[in-house]
This record gives sequence, C-alpha cells and structure tokens, in this order.
Amino acid sequence: MSTHIGAAPGDIAPTVLMPGDPLRAKWIAETFLDDARCYSEVRGMYGFTGTWQGRPVSVQGSGMGQPSLAIYANELFRDYDVQTAIRVGSCGALTEKLAIRDLVIASGACTDSSMNHIAFEGLDYAPVADFGLLRDAAAAAPEAHVGLIFSSDSFYAARPELVARMVDYGVLAVEMEASALYTLAAKHGRRALAICTVSDHIVTGEETTSQEREQTFGRMVEVALTASQP
Ligand code: HPA
Repeated sequence: MSTHIGAAPGDIAPTVLMPGDPLRAKWIAETFLDDARCYSEVRGMYGFTGTWQGRPVSVQGSGMGQPSLAIYANELFRDYDVQTAIRVGSCGALTEKLAIRDLVIASGACTDSSMNHIAFEGLDYAPVADFGLLRDAAAAAPEAHVGLIFSSDSFYAARPELVARMVDYGVLAVEMEASALYTLAAKHGRRALAICTVSDHIVTGEETTSQEREQTFGRMVEVALTASQP
C-alpha cells in the first residue's frame, strides 16, 4: 500500500474517477461499475475498482481542497501507475452565463494556491486539461460549458472582489481541486480532466437540492466514463 491508499499494486485501474466526497465514490461504484470491490478505506477515503463496459475503472475519493487531492493524485500516479484521472465534482457558478445544474468542463484552472508558486519559485504555471480528454468530454456533452475555472484554497472567500476579477478574464466557476490535479498529471506525464456540475450560483444565490445533485452527478459520471475510453 502507499501512505494514504490501502491498495496492493494492480488493485487500481489505469483510469480513475476522482470525486471529492468518498461517499460519492461509493455511489459511483455501486451505480455505474460491475463487480466493484473496495480497495481502500484508509481515513474513510474510499477507493473502488470495477468494470465499465468490460473495461477496468477505479473511483477514488480525493477529499476537499488541493492539498488533499494532491496526496491521492501523487500516490495514484507514482505508486499505482494511473494513466488517466478525471475529477468529477461540484462548482459554484461565477457568471450568469451558467445556470444551476449546468456542466462545466475545465480547459484550464487558475488558482490562489501557493503550491505552484512554491514549486515554480514565483513563476506562474498554467495548469491545463489533457486535450484528448477535453475534446472527447466536450463531444460527449454538447450541452456543457468548456472554459476556465478557478481552483480556490478557500470555500469562504476572504476577498470576493478578487474572484469577481477572475470573471472579467473569462473564468466561469469556482471549485477547489482541478489546478493541482492538472499540475500533477503534467508532472507525471499522465492525462487529467475536471468535469463539474454547478451546485450553487454565487451570482444569483440559487442552490441545488441533494436529489438534483445526484441526478446531475450521474450525467457527469457518464460523460467522464465516455471520455475516458481509449
Ligand atoms: N466555492 C468553492 N468550491 C465550490 C463551491 C464554491 O462556491 N461550490 C462547489 N464547490
């Protein structure tokens, strides 16, 4: 096992979906995968492997925020040779171009995290999605918005006006993980994508019910599984 994932080598498929919530990982495995088996319960951050259309697929909870996601993404890429990681999560809409429950496929992810500033000694690295995954997800979900998102370190923004400034530069939505996932995939030479559904609207104040979140979550998982096909 690795430090935070209780799986033996070979227990984890080359393709992994990564929801933030470990109970979502369980729901995805039970709803979409055949013969799903739990490979890790370390810290309650469940991981499952099963098959989808006969192909092995894993689902690993990432936790919330870039430091947590980075722990799991690093270990998946380094210790389990994962080739493709697709985040499936929620986001807050920052613009009226988006409606509640819309799908957002992140072509790139801005951030206020210090992780890359430390790694690149103050230079700005531009974390972007794998082009093939982005193209295939966009084709599988013509209704989705494709564009920039903002991976924030704070759910409760200390300076909301700075987030608003991001919108002037084309950012559509805010979440908390994609930037680290894209950066780590690039570092390890692997493929990554983040697909999010709008769970709350920062401009209008609308929120989704838990039932609505489940439905839109299902659509997002279908898109992720379709895009992940080799
Ligand atoms: N902020 C950050 N992350 C989020 C949000 C939000 O409003 N909604 C869903 N994930």
